[in-house]
Amino acid sequence: MTTRLSLNAISKAYGKADNQMVVLHDISFSLNAGEFLAIEGPSGSGKSTLLNICGLIDHATHGDYYLNGAAVSQLNSSERCACRRREIGFIFQRHQLIPAMTVYDNIAYPLQLNNVKAKQIKHDVAQLLTAMGLEHRCNHLPYQLSGGERQRVGIARALIKRPQLVVADEPSASLDHRHAQAGLQLMRELNQTYGASFLIASHDPLVINHCDRKLTLLDGYLVDPA
Ligand SMILES: Nc1ncnc2c1ncn2[C@@H]1O[C@H](COP(=O)(O)OP(=O)(O)OP(=O)(O)O)[C@@H](O)[C@H]1O
Ligand SMILES: [Mg+2]
Repeated sequence: MTTRLSLNAISKAYGKADNQMVVLHDISFSLNAGEFLAIEGPSGSGKSTLLNICGLIDHATHGDYYLNGAAVSQLNSSERCACRRREIGFIFQRHQLIPAMTVYDNIAYPLQLNNVKAKQIKHDVAQLLTAMGLEHRCNHLPYQLSGGERQRVGIARALIKRPQLVVADEPSASLDHRHAQAGLQLMRELNQTYGASFLIASHDPLVINHCDRKLTLLDGYLVDPA
């Protein structure tokens, strides 16, 4: 079994030395190629902090982590950004759409950054707009959308470049059952066609039951599965 992502004794502290708060303690686990792994845990337990580290948005205070065997924890911030752009799709808990860009442009943006040809971008965006039920919203700006519509744009944007690793922070939080199912189906298609791996923080039984395995975070510690 190929290992996609591997964490070795990760810890994370926020704040300056005299006022530090440690929110992740000694976290080690691996995510296999093609695996769906759920991270659950109460609010404030460190799920988003952990996902931000795995998605190369933030860095750990201590410990090493590896993406496809490469020690990405050693990269500087511009190398981290380039690696994220190539390899990782990130679904943010608070959507993080670009406010001045339309739905269409928000979804197309990761492909533009990777220099994909315009014709291919048009085709791929149209496909995802349909899959996420957003065709009629393609020229709208994020502020004109409902929370669930924004979430669906965030899902489409994360999946469009067919990344090897998708990190999803509460991807179904503002979705009804039908749209949550549609999002999961898209993820499963990416998984089956391209072998993408998924690391998903969620409280939603629909999402958690869809995953192959689940880990629990409590107060920044990984709890051993019973
Ligand atoms: N930038 C930051 N600076 C200081 N503390 C932070 C920062 N981000 C998060 N924290 C703290 O770290 C802890 C873990 O937060 P995190 O957002 O990772 O939790 P979570 O499990 O994702 O919670 P939720 O389910 O509410 O999204 C919390 O106590 C939070 O207040
Ligand atoms: Mg969170």
